[in-house]
Amino acid sequence: MKQCTNHHKGTHSNRNVHSLKNPNPQKKQSTLNLENTIALVTGGNSGLGKATAQLLIEKGAKVVITGRDEKKTADVAGELGAVPFHCDVTSDQDIQKMYDFIEEKFGRLDILINNAGIGGWSALGEITREKMKEVYEVNVFGATMVASGALRFFLKQKSGNIINIASTASLKGYPQGSIYASSKFALRGLTQCWQAELRRDNIRVIQINPSEVPTAFGDEENRKERPIEDKKLTPHEIAHTIICTLEMDNRGYIPEVTVHATNPF
Ligand SMILES: NC(=O)c1ccc[n+]([C@@H]2O[C@H](COP(=O)([O-])OP(=O)(O)OC[C@H]3O[C@@H](n4cnc5c(N)ncnc54)[C@H](OP(=O)(O)O)[C@@H]3O)[C@@H](O)[C@H]2O)c1
Repeated sequence: MKQCTNHHKGTHSNRNVHSLKNPNPQKKQSTLNLENTIALVTGGNSGLGKATAQLLIEKGAKVVITGRDEKKTADVAGELGAVPFHCDVTSDQDIQKMYDFIEEKFGRLDILINNAGIGGWSALGEITREKMKEVYEVNVFGATMVASGALRFFLKQKSGNIINIASTASLKGYPQGSIYASSKFALRGLTQCWQAELRRDNIRVIQINPSEVPTAFGDEENRKERPIEDKKLTPHEIAHTIICTLEMDNRGYIPEVTVHATNPF
C-alpha cells in the first residue's frame, strides 16, 4: 500500500498514512489497511455510530465524531479517543465548519460514515408536513449535504468511501412507515445515484441496512439508550459489517448489505 505524505496537519504525524487508492494493480492485495486513515462518523456519540467509531479506532483510524448534543459528543469522544465536533446536519453552516475543521486538522478524509438519522412514524391520516420535513431534513437533506461536502476531499484525492446508514425500512414499506421508510427509500435512491456518479473517481458508496438494533433511536425526547437484548442485533454487528466492507481492497465495492438478527424469535 502506498505511503502518503503531507496528508496530516496539526497534531498528527505523517507516519504510516495509507492512501485508499490501489497504486499498483499488479500487486496482490487482499485487504485494505485502515490504520491512520481519517474517518468522520456523523451521529458518532451514540448507538451504531459510536460502535463504528470505536471499531475504526481499534483498527488504527483517526476518527472525528459529531452529534447535536455538544457535551455528549465531547464526553463520548473522550471515552473512545475520538475527536469531537459539534454539528447539526440540518445546518449547512455547521457542515461547512465541520469540513473546514477536518481540512485544518488532518488535511484529508478517507471515510465518511453518513449515520446521523432520526425516526418518525405516523399513520397516513395523521401525517403532518412538519413531521415529514423534520425527518427528511436529517435523513435525506442532511445526509446529502454531508456527502456532498466530503467530495471536497474525495474528488481531489481520487479516493474515498461513503457509508450510508439506511435501514431494512429502505427495502419494504410497512404500516405507519410513510415518513421514516420513505426517507430511507430516498437515501437508497441517492446511494445508487452517487455510486453511478462517483465510482470513476475511485469513490466507493456503500449502503448498510440494519434491521432492529436496540439503541436510543426513536426516543427523540429523552435520548435514552435501550439495553442490549439477548436475541436482537447489537451496534457491534453493524460496526463489524461496516469495517468488513471498508477492508475489502478498493478495486471492489459492495453496493449494499442488509443485516438481520439470526433468531430474534
Ligand atoms: N437502531 C435501529 O434499530 C436502526 C435500524 C436501522 C437503521 N438505523 C439507522 O442507524 C442510524 C443510527 O441510529 P442509532 O440506532 O444509532 O440511533 P441513536 O442512538 O439515536 O443515534 C443517532 C445519532 O444521530 C445523531 N443525530 C440525530 N439527528 C442529528 C442531527 N440533526 N444532526 C447531527 N446528528 C444527529 C444523534 O446525535 P445526538 O444524540 O447528539 O442527538 C446520535 O448520535 C440512523 O440513521 C438510523 O436511521 C437504526
